[in-house]
Amino acid sequence: MAHADRITCPVLSTRVTTAEEAARHVAHGMSVGISGFTGAGHPKAVPGALADRIAVAHSRGEEFRIGLWSGASTAPEVDGRLAEVHGLDKRLPYNGDPTLRRLINTGEVDYVDAHLSHTAQQAWFGFYGPLDVAIVEVAAVLPNGLLVPGSSVGNNKAWLERAEKVVLEVNHWQPRDLEGFHDVYYGTALPPHRLPIQMTHPMQRIGDPYLRVDPAKVVAVVETNAPDRNSPLNPPDDASRDMAGFLVDFLRHEVAAGRIPPNLLPLQSGVGNVANAVMEGLLTAEFTGMTAFTEVIQDGLLDLLDAGKLDAVSATSFGLSEDGAARFLADPGHYKGRILLRSQEISNHPELVRRLGVIAINGMIEADVYGNVNSTHVMGSAIMNGIGGSGDFARNAYLNFFVSPSTAKRGSISSIVPMVSHVDHTEHDVHVLVTERGLADLRGLSPTDRADRIIEHCAHPDYADRLRDYVDRAKAARPEARHTPHLLDEALGWHRAFLRDGHM
Ligand code: COA
Repeated sequence: MAHADRITCPVLSTRVTTAEEAARHVAHGMSVGISGFTGAGHPKAVPGALADRIAVAHSRGEEFRIGLWSGASTAPEVDGRLAEVHGLDKRLPYNGDPTLRRLINTGEVDYVDAHLSHTAQQAWFGFYGPLDVAIVEVAAVLPNGLLVPGSSVGNNKAWLERAEKVVLEVNHWQPRDLEGFHDVYYGTALPPHRLPIQMTHPMQRIGDPYLRVDPAKVVAVVETNAPDRNSPLNPPDDASRDMAGFLVDFLRHEVAAGRIPPNLLPLQSGVGNVANAVMEGLLTAEFTGMTAFTEVIQDGLLDLLDAGKLDAVSATSFGLSEDGAARFLADPGHYKGRILLRSQEISNHPELVRRLGVIAINGMIEADVYGNVNSTHVMGSAIMNGIGGSGDFARNAYLNFFVSPSTAKRGSISSIVPMVSHVDHTEHDVHVLVTERGLADLRGLSPTDRADRIIEHCAHPDYADRLRDYVDRAKAARPEARHTPHLLDEALGWHRAFLRDGHM
């Protein structure tokens, strides 16, 4: 690692040290803001060194737990390691790590499941208390002290500004050519001093290519050379391809109806199997000149860029597989000017999502017959990941889709239920539901019409008759309360049955 070509700031180059030394700046009870989003751009060395310190402290009988704030999910070497040593007391705003998930669900770790566009502003509002240390990965430190961000921006701007002390990790694995891929908006302010965000196209630059940091706060600079998480991508299964097919056909239908232009509107898509299948579906569809205003750049978006179908992508992070990362790293210049990474408060900003008219596609755990959607909780109580950006996009989208197989756990669970066991997206927000059985367009429908359509088009045949029966009996039970008919004794009975018998 030739430090001279990555850390060219004379002041900050004097702060270069080891991960172990850097980790000494974190103490019990502190709040730590880290970089990282969907396994991209998280610090690779200091969290592990911190986990070792915590383990030693615990072996001596000392208390050592911290609050950890990030952009979104990180990687096993961050959340996994810190959870394994029981070093976390609080975590926000999103987690995808299975070890940490277990500790959140057993009550050991307090989890604040926040909208991803909200975290930076809520940190500024003071809702989370002071931020003691920021640990932020960057690609390079320039002579004037400006920072070239890495493969994600996330909440880095806010953490660098809010933290008392800053630790930088300069990762040689991050391509030096990332310089120019970022647009960091420095125009945020606190109410009542806010101004409109002047963006009318997903690729409009409104900020700087660099992150700023007060050099006086930088207590350590650590060099690393380690890849992002780059999780493998499973090829879409048949159910995902079916859902993608329904969704792409529906977009065609909307174009034909004149409700969206032939190159569609800026796309947002969540991560996972169905999202990939949708990208694959768009690859073979007739749409060209598309754009994306989204959170994460998965392989499917690179495919669309390479195929010339997608003109440009605005996001906050990469979330590539190893193959996707290899493709990007082989020639970053090929994508320059067509990919912009922004802070997550901007990539997910409700004002921009609404103005640009985003088409939002996100996964769900379950929906109820009236169109309320649960994206986060299994059987009402146990969290899966978190709401992520789904709420930022869905509520403000021009058109939103929630997608899921119609059953889970080998058919023992129906994803369409009488009443969701937890609500993330209300019936007022949800436009279209998609399962492998079909697509239910709920726009402009009353609750009981929505129920008919969801049961007919989305429910699995093993459950559809029972759902119909539920709605019919609910209507009959209280003729004076038929707007959104429910049987309160039974509404969550399907979940109760699963917990009791292992089957809905
Ligand atoms: N009841 C119980 N478990 C369910 C379920 C249900 N109705 N539906 C899904 N699951 C389980 C699956 O069995 C699977 O469990 P496993 O990991 O033990 O196999 C897990 O949830 C994931 O489901 P899967 O069908 O593989 O879908 P996915 O990977 O697309 O994830 C969400 C679906 C909802 C969990 C995921 O989309 C998510 O976390 N969403 C919230 C955040 C978000 O939308 N982010 C994007 C915004 S930019």
